[in-house]
Amino acid sequence: MIVVASSNGRIGINAATEILRQGGTAVDAVEAGIRLVEANPEDHSVGYNGYPNILGEVELDASMMNGRTLESGAVGALKGYVHAITLARQVMERLPHVLLVGDGASRFAAEMGHVPQPEMLQPETRTVWANCLRANMSDSDIEAIGERTDLARWVELATDPERTKGTVNFIAQDKNGNICTGVSTSGWAWKYPGRLGDSPIIGAGNYADNRYGAAACTGMGEMAIRASTAHSLVFYLKMGLSLAEASERAMADLRDLGGRYISVMNLVAIDKEGNHAGYSSAEDRSYIYQTPDMPECEELPRTVVSIPPRWGKTGLQRI
Ligand code: GLY
Repeated sequence: MIVVASSNGRIGINAATEILRQGGTAVDAVEAGIRLVEANPEDHSVGYNGYPNILGEVELDASMMNGRTLESGAVGALKGYVHAITLARQVMERLPHVLLVGDGASRFAAEMGHVPQPEMLQPETRTVWANCLRANMSDSDIEAIGERTDLARWVELATDPERTKGTVNFIAQDKNGNICTGVSTSGWAWKYPGRLGDSPIIGAGNYADNRYGAAACTGMGEMAIRASTAHSLVFYLKMGLSLAEASERAMADLRDLGGRYISVMNLVAIDKEGNHAGYSSAEDRSYIYQTPDMPECEELPRTVVSIPPRWGKTGLQRI
């Protein structure tokens, strides 16, 4: 039995581990751990008080995958509700679908009895957003940003590749060997409205299969979507690679991406024996894990696989 998480999962890992300690399921453990991160206003990359899109609106993405059945649920661009991970679980368990987005996701949240949160941002976080836009826009431009028909240009100016980091990953394996993964995020700060990252895309930011292992990603989601990173890692395990070999291979796939926008990527993974690993393309990143016999989690450095960043300049162009 084990829980593995990105380091910002510290606030939730004890609750997740306690569920396993009491004989609960990996699915319950992952949901409980992530809900505490989503409710934490100090974490600007997940849930309540997460950094908003270019219009100043918080849009949440989340997914969950049950490695026993490969059932999955996800929500994207969810507005007005905090617990995207619970809604992702409800998509998995209550609907014949895998992914709901936008108005449909909000509608389903209301139907499932979620409490609306009309003000997802604390005032100081709104000020961070406005100050960032102010570098390129006048106050009247910011006031009227919802009317603009040239948002793409402003997204390019305002987005900060450093703010693509964040997002929370949880992976749990319970006493029956069942694995569950969960990912939740407010996505990339100042993103274009409706942008989905890897977090709600099964196979990109999240994948679990009891027979082999599981993986989840944080960082620049576009890269994990393009390389199908979480699924690739589990597929490499299926092909007989060790956890370290599979993780390195999945990171190398990201390094091979062409194009103009390449930033930081991180992953956590376990194999079916419960061995764990954390990888990053950046220095000084860590992840955490806890087993039921541990009173607190342990933080470990992630193994670094270099992926040279590129931003807005013509890079390696693959045909
Ligand atoms: N990895 C989270 C995102 O790109 O939105």
